[in-house]
Amino acid sequence: MSLFSTPFDTARDTALVTGAGNGIGRAIAQALVGEGVRTVFADVSAARVEAAIAASKRPELAVPWIGDLSKSDACDELLAAAQAGLGDITHFVHSASPPRREADHALGVDRRTWQEMHAVNLDAGFHLARAIATDLIAAKRPGSFLFLTSLHAGTPRNLPHYSTAKAAMAMLVKELAKTFGRHGIRVNALVPGAIAAGGFVADPALARHIPLGRLGEANDLAPMALTVLSNKLSAYVTGAAFVVDGGLSLTNWFEPPVLDG
Ligand SMILES: NC(=O)c1ccc[n+]([C@@H]2O[C@H](COP(=O)([O-])OP(=O)(O)OC[C@H]3O[C@@H](n4cnc5c(N)ncnc54)[C@H](O)[C@@H]3O)[C@@H](O)[C@H]2O)c1
Repeated sequence: MSLFSTPFDTARDTALVTGAGNGIGRAIAQALVGEGVRTVFADVSAARVEAAIAASKRPELAVPWIGDLSKSDACDELLAAAQAGLGDITHFVHSASPPRREADHALGVDRRTWQEMHAVNLDAGFHLARAIATDLIAAKRPGSFLFLTSLHAGTPRNLPHYSTAKAAMAMLVKELAKTFGRHGIRVNALVPGAIAAGGFVADPALARHIPLGRLGEANDLAPMALTVLSNKLSAYVTGAAFVVDGGLSLTNWFEPPVLDG
């Protein structure tokens, strides 16, 4: 059996993807059910979840969950629904994130927007991961978690609520990877560049600064996500951050050389 033909144990592996209604989360959730993994599609938008599942290759493997992860009770409700639908969750992807609005710069962002950004990205990510890990440790089962962070965990975005939430998530990945590693639970970060996926309204002119010459698409992230999530393909990988940005983060004030001929 080829390594790449069976990245998951579809009899035992189960997944929970937040933000599965749109963009990168949607692409990853759809790819997981496409590989035969039973997956909870969690999102605040019922219409988006319904459409994402309907457009999946194997809709019968998808379990919808609708709720607002900025609310503290929502994580418990999601975990109970996931357990009822699929049993223990072995693979967790945290992609949900509120909309990014350019008006929410340092002088513009209000307290509610600040708190919501941190609540969904950081608080929900932590509470869900800890609860899922607690069950896996008790059951002596391996697991794999993936957090969608950002290049703006390390460089400003003019959206301080967003960049600080992502910077905290990047450290959370390392904390959890170190703590859960000896229990066979791997925790990694996926770091997208400029992905025209819904949450980022892309200016096509940006492509000029990307070495691979184009903006990214949500489906550019899914193969790397599944590779890192797979306990077969990435068994010895934890606490790592995988940048999928077409080379955008290599760009600085030096233009690349012009190569003639
Ligand atoms: N698109 C990019 O260029 C880019 C770049 C870097 C990082 N990221 C990160 O990748 C992830 C996905 O980005 P995207 O652009 O695909 O996002 P998106 O906006 O297209 O999708 C985010 C999803 O999260 C859901 N969501 C928002 N608030 C929620 C809440 N309170 N409870 C539950 N669900 C909620 C939305 O309904 C939406 O379906 C995010 O964490 C984002 O920060 C994206």
